[in-house]
Amino acid sequence: MATTSPQIDPKNIDFVRYEDEDTHMPLVSALCDAELSEPYSIFVLRYFVNNWPELCFMAMDRTTSQCLGVIVCKLEKHREMMRGYVAMLVVDKKARKARLGSELTKRALAAMQAKGADECVLEAETTNEGALRLYQSLGFIRDKRLSRYYLSGTDAYRLKLLFPLPSQVDGDGHLQDLVEGIEKL
Ligand SMILES: CC(C)(COP(=O)(O)OP(=O)(O)OC[C@H]1O[C@@H](n2cnc3c(N)ncnc32)[C@H](O)[C@@H]1OP(=O)(O)O)[C@@H](O)C(=O)NCCC(=O)NCCS
Repeated sequence: MATTSPQIDPKNIDFVRYEDEDTHMPLVSALCDAELSEPYSIFVLRYFVNNWPELCFMAMDRTTSQCLGVIVCKLEKHREMMRGYVAMLVVDKKARKARLGSELTKRALAAMQAKGADECVLEAETTNEGALRLYQSLGFIRDKRLSRYYLSGTDAYRLKLLFPLPSQVDGDGHLQDLVEGIEKL
């Protein structure tokens, strides 16, 4: 079980969908600039959020209007499957281990499932214990090892999850409510 970050009160966090460049891009890019180890391009970020805004979720601190976490994804046909892809997941250092990453990922997966995804894939550094644990607890399995995948020279695991989502994802039926809520949007 994650130890809740002492600086974060989950009651003050709203999970919102990305709206548009003016409202949300400065918040998302500031968080990515501050927290990501590999350089990223704003053009790549725009490609994802402009094409699949319904698969981009943010964790907003209501008391400070700060964005403390974001997930950026896409969903496309791949061979005969509809394949979701998590391009980016990042949580502010001061808000880690408060389940924001898990909640963002659940929302993105629920939105993918609502849009007919068959599977979801992503890459994570083989040394990224936090990310591997988070994804594995949501039902992802290790599909392949990709040698020297990152600029740093580190290997990656390709992780894969097959839909439908396991009902035990949050243990108490809330995920189904989430999928149904997202379907209605
Ligand atoms: C990876 C990351 C998104 C996790 O976000 P988070 O909000 O702290 O994660 P959660 O609080 O939802 O934790 C989920 C699980 O992972 C575990 N976990 C999280 N960070 C961990 C760490 N550094 N080491 C070990 N376990 C960790 C939690 O204990 C929890 O486990 P549990 O389900 O058994 O209780 C965050 O550390 C981050 O932004 N890292 C930098 C960017 C990054 O690596 N992104 C992922 C790229 S693939």
